[in-house]
Amino acid sequence: MRTPLLPTPFRALVIGSSGSIGSAFLELLENNPDCAMVTGIHRHSIPSINYEDPSSIQLAAQALSAQAPFDLIINTIGILHSEQWMPEKKLDDLNAEQLNHLIQINTIGPALTLKYFSKLLTPHASVMAALSAKVGSIEDNRLGGWYSYRASKAALNMLIKTAAIEFSRTKPNTTLVALHPGTVNSRLSKPFRGEQIGRPALDAAKDMLNVIQSLDSNDSGSFISYTGEKLPW
Ligand SMILES: NC(=O)c1ccc[n+]([C@@H]2O[C@H](COP(=O)([O-])OP(=O)(O)OC[C@H]3O[C@@H](n4cnc5c(N)ncnc54)[C@H](OP(=O)(O)O)[C@@H]3O)[C@@H](O)[C@H]2O)c1
Repeated sequence: MRTPLLPTPFRALVIGSSGSIGSAFLELLENNPDCAMVTGIHRHSIPSINYEDPSSIQLAAQALSAQAPFDLIINTIGILHSEQWMPEKKLDDLNAEQLNHLIQINTIGPALTLKYFSKLLTPHASVMAALSAKVGSIEDNRLGGWYSYRASKAALNMLIKTAAIEFSRTKPNTTLVALHPGTVNSRLSKPFRGEQIGRPALDAAKDMLNVIQSLDSNDSGSFISYTGEKLPW
């Protein structure tokens, strides 16, 4: 039988709580009787966290240390498109600015978040989850395209896996996972018929919280779908 990692009650932090999935996690946790306290941070909160200003990551972690320790930290920050560009359909669309920006927001920001915010986790038993995407799986890449997004999430996956290996030695009670939310109706998916094909963010958050609550420490360093299925890296 699996022993749940999260204590009851648990204390949680949602990073990117202004987004569709992030705000759904916040709402879900605020209404969860097992969750004693939840805090959300984003670009316009106090403290704020802005991946275009990497120094804000350490400053936000320092500011939140007064509220630590947390048993659960979920990072939902990520982008797919901007006002300037959409995901690349072909190699000819690839450009340095887009690739750099996606790596900055989807890879470097979450990596530094892992570095600074993992220090706020309770040492007894805790979970840190970052939202990745199935299209970041190298093995599962069947359709091609979306070069920068795929590469930024694949690199994020590698950072999570690598940190999980380090944590197995240095923080053996911390479980670190990359989560795939499925297709969700959100700002991010809107240009790709997200309203038609995506499910509500609250449903996705519920599914992922169920996955988190059924994790055990052997799952650390895994890439897991909202269904609980382990995904290939
Ligand atoms: N929706 C899907 O179908 C889907 C599928 C697979 C994976 N995902 C992943 O799920 C996560 C959440 O996506 P979502 O659908 O909820 O998208 P969303 O509604 O667009 O939310 C994105 C979040 O990222 C934040 N963000 C963007 N740029 C930032 C920056 N420079 N610094 C700090 N925060 C920044 C946004 O903050 P602001 O509110 O300030 O803009 C917002 O909180 C992402 O990592 C995404 O890759 C989503």
